[in-house]
Amino acid sequence: MVTAYRMYIGGKWIGGRERFDDRNPADEKAIASFPLATEDDVDEAVYSAHEALKSWSRTPPPARAAILLRASQIIKQDKERLARLVTVEMGKVLAEARGDVQEAIDTFEYFAGEGRRLFGHTTTSELRDKFCMTVRRPVGVVGLITPWNFPIAIPSWKLGPALVCGNTVVLKPSSDTPLCAYEMVRILEKAGIPPGVVNLVTGPASTVGEAIVKHPEIAGISFTGSRQTGEWITKNAGLKKIGLELGGKNPIIVMDDADLSLAAEGIIWGAFGTTGQRCTSTSRIIVQKKVKERLLQVLVGRAKRLRLGNGLLKTTDVGPLVNKAALEKVDGYVAIGKDEGAKLLCGGKRGKGKGFFYQPTIFDDVTKEMRIAREEIFGPVLSVLEFDYLDEAIDIANSVEYGLSSSIYTKDIRRAFKAIERIESGITYVNASTIGAEVHMPFGGVKGTGSTREAGMLGLDEFSHVKSVYVDYSGKLQRAQIDTDALIRNPRE
Ligand code: UN1
Repeated sequence: MVTAYRMYIGGKWIGGRERFDDRNPADEKAIASFPLATEDDVDEAVYSAHEALKSWSRTPPPARAAILLRASQIIKQDKERLARLVTVEMGKVLAEARGDVQEAIDTFEYFAGEGRRLFGHTTTSELRDKFCMTVRRPVGVVGLITPWNFPIAIPSWKLGPALVCGNTVVLKPSSDTPLCAYEMVRILEKAGIPPGVVNLVTGPASTVGEAIVKHPEIAGISFTGSRQTGEWITKNAGLKKIGLELGGKNPIIVMDDADLSLAAEGIIWGAFGTTGQRCTSTSRIIVQKKVKERLLQVLVGRAKRLRLGNGLLKTTDVGPLVNKAALEKVDGYVAIGKDEGAKLLCGGKRGKGKGFFYQPTIFDDVTKEMRIAREEIFGPVLSVLEFDYLDEAIDIANSVEYGLSSSIYTKDIRRAFKAIERIESGITYVNASTIGAEVHMPFGGVKGTGSTREAGMLGLDEFSHVKSVYVDYSGKLQRAQIDTDALIRNPRE
């Protein structure tokens, strides 16, 4: 029997009648069980969040921030244990799991700093003795729906700004990683978060997610996950404030003047790090014809040397995919790639034995019309496309529905800036891979990826409303646009 964990509602740890198992993708063994929340549980969580909102929204932001700072310190002290938990729960190799935890430490520190900023604008008025400014107000109760691929970091991206802005929260983590979310909530509890400010409900999107998205008392939804679910949320959430981050089909353009061994290193890291399961993972290489063969030789050599295995082992380079459905999806896309006429250079097979392992896979001779060049696979599968001129490369880069991350390898500053200007994506790297966003920079995309930004200063926008405030101290009625000073009107009027 595995440990039966609970949900957190109104400051109490609560069980449930039905439960589901949380499994280690490296050996398929159950590691924990969690309650399947009912619609009543979600109602209860929303009710508690509403009650808590009254006081939390009026708590001075530096006091709210102090809790985030304490939480970040607790995470820091517990970093190694949490990193191992990330590996056991979703498979990524330990070094990357440490990065996942570090990202949460950094994010909480960053947003704790916002407790003493939360800046607005002050500006002049068109009228005398009148003052204009903006202040941030919380959205209200917000539903945070988080994925499994950064099971510590992504909840922190949402919890940090949501809490410092004065919102209260109902958190629903992916059913593949409820334990990491549970740990985050425990840490916030230890750091002193008042009852009801953060609530944790567990269970599938089809019931728990839906109840959150449709709940009339929830004012905002922040979701990271599949495009399909994002579209469903847009249609079903009503007039809530919605933040979406829906994946990518991220290209690296390699020019003929690039440092090819640097590019190869970046590509291997971007495509096969986290087993290709980042929204920012490199999934397309768009390489100038002249250097394609040379680049591919290095890439294939390196990809073949990557060792699959349990992420806890020092000898492992690439961990498992998160679950059976992910494995089948990747396998399905490899079959599609072959059918479409792409040339399989390496990989293309499942790993042996237990666990959801898949070999790092590279397809050559891919064209931009093929499904493996357009659709998000979310696994270790890389498509290689070729071009003659930079314009063509940018057209290929932009020919997909997504627009999250992108990169160009070149030593030519003119080429680099053209790419920065013209690639349709929320993030562009120059001479670096498509992964590795830093927490003080805005993160998000364009087109089918969604349009909101998380992290950085702009990350506050998702979790606050900006209120415009006018203070008139003239003591008389002053009409905007009418009683303005004659000097700012056209004197000939
Ligand atoms: C994601 O895959 O949704 O930039 C997040 C990166 C990480 C975050 C990825 N810092 O790759």
